[in-house]
Parts: sequence; C-alpha cells; structure tokens
Amino acid sequence: PVQYLADYRPWPFTLSETRLDVTLAPRDTRVRAELRLTPQQAGSDLVLDGGTELRLISLTVDGQQPDPSHVIREGERLTVVAAALPQGPFTLATEVGIDPADNTAFEGLYLSNGIFCTQCEAEGFRHITFYPDRPDVMTTFSVTIRSDLPVLLSNGNPVSKAPGVAEWHDPWPKPCYLFALVAGDLVAVSDSFTTRSGRKVALNVWVRPGDQHRADFAMQSLIKSMKWDEDVYGREYDLDVFNIVAVDDFNMGAMENKGLNIFNSKLVLASPETATDADYERIESVIAHEYFHNWTGNRITCRDWFQLCLKEGLTVFRDQQFTSDMRSAAVKRIEDVQALRARQFREDQGPLAHPPRPDHYEEINNFYTATVYEKGAEVIGMLKRLVGNDGYAKALDLYFDRHDGDAATIEDWLKVFEDATGRDLAQFKRWYTDAGTPVVEMSEDWQDGRLTLSFRQSTPPTPGQTEKPARIIPIAVGLLGPNGDEVAGTRVLELSEDSQSFDFDGLSARPVVSALRGFSAPIILRRDLDDATRAFLLAHDTDPFARWEAGRELALSALTTLATGGEAGSSYIASIGALIAEDQTDPAFRALSLNLPGEEEIATRLAYLGQTPDPDAIHTARTDLARRIASAHEPLLSRIYDEMTVPGAYSPDAVSAARRALRIAALGLLGRIDGGERAEVLFGVAGNMTERMAALAVLLRLGHGAPALAALLDEFGDNRLVMDKWFSIQAMAAPPQDAVAVASALAERNDFDWKNPNRFRALLGGLAANHAGFHSVDGSGYAFTADWLIRMDAVNPQIAARMSTAFETWPRYDEMRRAHARAALERIASVKGLSRNTREMVSRMIAAG
Ligand code: ARG
Ligand code: ZN
Repeated sequence: PVQYLADYRPWPFTLSETRLDVTLAPRDTRVRAELRLTPQQAGSDLVLDGGTELRLISLTVDGQQPDPSHVIREGERLTVVAAALPQGPFTLATEVGIDPADNTAFEGLYLSNGIFCTQCEAEGFRHITFYPDRPDVMTTFSVTIRSDLPVLLSNGNPVSKAPGVAEWHDPWPKPCYLFALVAGDLVAVSDSFTTRSGRKVALNVWVRPGDQHRADFAMQSLIKSMKWDEDVYGREYDLDVFNIVAVDDFNMGAMENKGLNIFNSKLVLASPETATDADYERIESVIAHEYFHNWTGNRITCRDWFQLCLKEGLTVFRDQQFTSDMRSAAVKRIEDVQALRARQFREDQGPLAHPPRPDHYEEINNFYTATVYEKGAEVIGMLKRLVGNDGYAKALDLYFDRHDGDAATIEDWLKVFEDATGRDLAQFKRWYTDAGTPVVEMSEDWQDGRLTLSFRQSTPPTPGQTEKPARIIPIAVGLLGPNGDEVAGTRVLELSEDSQSFDFDGLSARPVVSALRGFSAPIILRRDLDDATRAFLLAHDTDPFARWEAGRELALSALTTLATGGEAGSSYIASIGALIAEDQTDPAFRALSLNLPGEEEIATRLAYLGQTPDPDAIHTARTDLARRIASAHEPLLSRIYDEMTVPGAYSPDAVSAARRALRIAALGLLGRIDGGERAEVLFGVAGNMTERMAALAVLLRLGHGAPALAALLDEFGDNRLVMDKWFSIQAMAAPPQDAVAVASALAERNDFDWKNPNRFRALLGGLAANHAGFHSVDGSGYAFTADWLIRMDAVNPQIAARMSTAFETWPRYDEMRRAHARAALERIASVKGLSRNTREMVSRMIAAG
C-alpha cells in the first residue's frame, strides 16, 4: 500500500506518558507498556501499530480487560474500538512477548553478539510493543530493564541501579523512534563535558571488553562536537549523561536515540593498525552528526516521515560545517561534491529519482537516501548563500525558539527563513518538492569591455514528474584576468527564470570566467570550454573547488575520448604535472586532483553525453591514462612519494592525513609502471592501515596480492572490521575479468558471515564498486548479486533493498547487459514472499527499462 503525504491527519489521542518494563531473555523477552492516553475526538477507535510477531499476553484499559470483541488484530495493527474506551484520560496497559534472538532484520529489539540493542527509526518500535508508531506522537518515557547482564542502558537520566534491574527516565518528550535500550557485557571509556551553563555531563563510549583503546578517538570527537554546537549554533546538551554504544550488527551507520546513541562499530572503533585516515574522518563526522541530532531531530523532530530531510538534510549540513572547521574546508567541499555526484546525481538521473521531500512511498526505509540526506544538505547550503550568514543565523535561532518540542515540517522550516529575513521562498521550495538535477547552460558574450553571461536552465523529467518549472539557482562567479589574477571577486548570480543574462562592466580585457565556485548549487553546469581554458583555470583559479573542477573536466574529457576510441591530447597530463609540483599547495588538494575519476563516473559522463558506456573500454582507457601519467611524471611522482612520508608516531590529524593521501595517490600511479615494487615494500613496513590498504590495492590490481592478503589474514583474522576491508578490497580491486570469480570464492568462506550487514556490504558492495566486473558482459556479476539479494531479503529486507541499488544504472548500458540485468531484476521480483522493501525498489527499477 502506498502512503501519501496528502493523507496526513493528526492522531486522535494525546499521549502524556509512556512507562515500559522490559524483562530481557534471548528467546522470550517480556515488554509491559503503560500508555497514558486522552481521546481528542469523540468516538475514535484506538489504533496501534504492532508487528505480527508480537505475542499479546494481556491488554487492559484502566485495569479492566475489554470485551474480546472490542480488541481487533489485523496485520500490523491492533484496534481497541471506541466503545471500549473512556471519554476522558485512561491508561492502556499491555504485555507482549518477543524473540530478540530470532530478529535477523535488526529492526526493533535484537541481539548482536550477546548484546541486546534496539533500532527503532523509522518504524522499529512496533516490533517491541503496540504503540502509535509515528513521529508526531511525543511523550516522556520511564523505562525499567530487568536482566542479569552488567550494563543496562536506556534514554535520559539514570534513576536507579540494583543488581538485575535498572531504571531510566527521559524528561524530554520524544517520539518512539528515538527510544533505545542496550544490555550487555560492556565496558566504558569515560570522560565528561561541562556545558556553557555549567551542567556537568558524564560521557561514556561503551564497547566490548578489550576494545577500549580503540574508543578514545570517538570520545574526543564527541567532546569536540559538543563544544562546536555551543560555539556555532548556541546549542547545549540537556541531560546528565550521554552514552554511545558500539554494536557489530547494525543496518545503517548510527542512530541518534535521545542520550543513548547506538553506532555501527565501524564508526566508533579505530586504531592506527586497523583504521584508515578515511575511517577516522568518518568517525569524527558521524559522531558529530548523531550528536547534532539532539537539537535537529530530537528537540525538534519531524511531523511525519515525508519530512525526513528536515532533520537529515540539516544535520548533514551541520556535520559538514563541523568537518570544514576541524579540517580543511576546501578539501571537505570537494569530497562532499564528489560523493554527491557519485551517489545523489546517480540516483537523481535514474529510475529511483525522488525529491528531497517525497510525497509518497511504500517503504520509508527505502528513502534514507543520498537525495534526502546529501541533497537535503545542499539545499540548505543554497538557502544560506541566498540569505547570507546573518540571515541564516537569525533564521536558525528562530527555528529553535519557535519549534523546540515540535514535530515540524518543511513548511515550518521555510517559514522561519521567510520571517527572519523577509524573503519569499515560494519558488525556492521547488528544491524540496521536485526531483531531478537541473542542467544549466552558460554562454559568454564579450563586447566593448562588457561581459555578458547568459544562462538557460532545464530539468529532465523524472519518474512521475514530467513538468519541471524553473528554480532559484545561486551561481557563484568570479573573473580572472589574462595573467591569472582575479579581476572580479566572487558574486552570486541568482537564476530564477528559464533564461537569464547578467552583465559585468568596465573590464579592460576579456576575462576567464570561474563559474559555480564552491559548487554553489547541486546542478550540472554546461559550458563550452576548450582544454586550454580549463588548463588555465586549473593553474590560476583562486576558488579551490572551481580549480579542482577544471582539472576534473580535463581528466574526464581525456578519459571519455580514450574510452570511445579517440586520441586524447596531452593537456591534462601536462597540467596535472604542474599542479602536483606546487610544493606550497595543500597535499590533500593535490591528491584529490591527482586521483583520476573512477570508472563509474566516466560511464555517467558518457551516458550524459548520449553514448552507451562500454565498461571494458572505460577500464582500459583509465588504466592507459594512469600509465601515461606515471610515465610522463615518474621522477616527480617518485620524489613526492619519498617526501610525503610522515615522520613519528601515527596521528589521524588532517595535516598528516593529507600527506599520506598525496603519497598514496603517487603510489597508485607509480604502481602502474614499477611492477608493484614500491607497494610491496610499503605493505611490509607501513605501521598504519591507510598505507597498507593503498599498497594492497596496487598489488591486487596487478594480480600480486596473495602474500599481502595472507599476512593480513594472519594478523587480523579475528578483527571483524579489518576483515571487512579484506573482503571488500579483493572484490573491488580484482581485475574485472576475475572479479565475479573472486567474489564467489570469498562467499564460500566460513568467515563470510553474510548475515552481518558490514560483511555482506563488504563483499557485495565491493563487487558493485568494481564497475567493469559487476557489469561483466556475460551477466555473471548481475546473477551473483541477484542470488545474494534473494538470500538476504528473507533475513534482512533493509539490507537487501539497499544493496539492490547496485542495479540502479542498468538502463544506460548496451542491449546485452540490459537483457542480463532485466533478467536478474525480474528473477528477484518473482520471489514469493519478497519483502515490501525489495519489491518496491526492484519494481521501480524494472519500470524504467
Ligand atoms: N537517523 C539515523 C541517522 O541519520 C539513520 C537511521 C536510519 N535507519 C533506518 N533503518 N532507516 O544517523
Ligand atoms: Zn541523521
């Protein structure tokens, strides 16, 4: 059944208190719930959500058992008819039995390696007890946990703890998706934080005994986040404790449950020998993300799940700002744009396109997407650019003031900007309601010292949305003089019509236009630029994003030419050499510029140009260009490789990580011509996982990875997080013709614990990231993936549905591949009892072919 935004109705009861009493047992946990309810509309039936697996043991209204005919269970619903309810306030008490050990979907209460934990967002609470499982029903929770396990945690503040029983009280009203409970044999890394107004907060990161030394970085990240939210947004923490728990089985990255964040262990645990620089950066940003939800998500939550981007877009935007402040803002922006293009543009240009605020869905878990999260954040970045920093600050203060304690909507959000700044946002709102990536064509005219920039915007149709009216698009532009100096600083042009022009007067010579600085809008900018002008921008642009982008465009033009049988010029090779020789330029920036676009990105570009991408030709083209760069610049790359070593003990800070990033970018290229010699040495001597993984990737591409793989297995065979990398890198870096065979062999291993989401994603996601391997022309990559999706769907629908996006670009390939992909998708669709999650995804993808 499809859910529609337009059907929203408030719940006809109010809920003023929830009391839970949970007696834990792996196979038979008992949950007693008391809900204090008041009818708001006479004659309303009380309709509660509750999974079909809940075993109802008792139900009373004000202590009395209703007539059995007044209690109706139908599917995922339990109804107590109005006739059985008082007109005024009453207490509904229920007791249910549940089986956490049997919960392989990791939604609701489940067991992960002996730890009881919960995941309730979006609709998991209905698998714990009967309840109004919707985010606009908010109340205080009092929770009693009974278990012999030593650590018993829930939301809010601890009330009492005795052997076998703990009580918690959360004074802040919240929807049930923010409920959490954890029980297990855990140890804490502890610290404290004193808020601006003097509240001393006890901080704990709970891990399995023996993992304490890998939790310090997460703790430091938490402390930085708490400080930053006070300094930048004026937001303080509001409870006496803040707990974070790391669990091994987790469907997503992490969850912002009030006062008790639960994390996928890969986003908490890190040590130099086991985690890469990228892992450290990601841990810091996800710890921040979940912490920031305390205000943007928890104190102000969403009225309904269509509004998901209200909390996710804003919280991603905030965590991006945090990372920019902690590290290099320029590098962070480029990384974010790369990720946006790889995941969100891909989504927006394919069968799964949807707006940041969708207006219908079948399964909400299918909408925790790059569009809701990352495009949702981009939309806020544009808003900030349009109203300015002061306008943004005023609007946010008003948002927190006006909506604290509310379950709010995108309309509420836009209204605070209108009220705080006086700006009408009716047209801007289209960014929230319309799907698709706008294409903006820019052209230049030069006459008598006047430059005219003309723009034309259009957005291609997306499933269910054919008409795409013009949007407000901020385009940041600067002008460079013939010598490369900036003759006009950044100016934001606001597009609001289908076509528009802007003049720049009083110029003494024709300038070079640096456009879409800072990636000021999530669009595709098309302009006719020759390689010489791009090379000029790569050499001189003062805006780091635009500078990087010029290099990217040069690389893509060389790669698409090579992949379609042409002869690429040497412009890119020469320019990139000049750039990486700039010793004073941030090594991280140089590394980002030196890394060639991936095969998927090249395929996307070709498809965009109206061609059918050939994965094998793309692979060959990219390999050839890498080899040519390496040969052309061998002495330079070799010098960089030697100079960019980081002396002393490993530290994950941005400056050290930047040096390593450039060093391994050089290594990757040198590996194309040195037979893997440097990589082999580095793998043996490097004391950190960043360099070891980079070296391993080089060796695997050359087919020389076996000894290094054996060494890692020997050293880290019992470390799940390292073994996840071990699985994924083999599938990802295998030569394309071997990729499916490598993945199949890995899937046969005893330690391919496929029910663990991280391990499953490592292998299947690794193969999907091997572009030419996954898209093997014989269809073997598709068939292998389909087999595993079918198997996973019966166990964990969320994971299967999410991984099915491996197929989302299928319509753009050749007839042979399309036939294989369609067959694989249809085979999945034909499975009896397929989950709603996977069915929705697969049918949307099939419909596009
Ligand atoms: N709110 C969480 C976050 O953004 C994501 C949880 C989503 N979980 C899910 N099963 N859909 O960090
Ligand atoms: Zn989030």
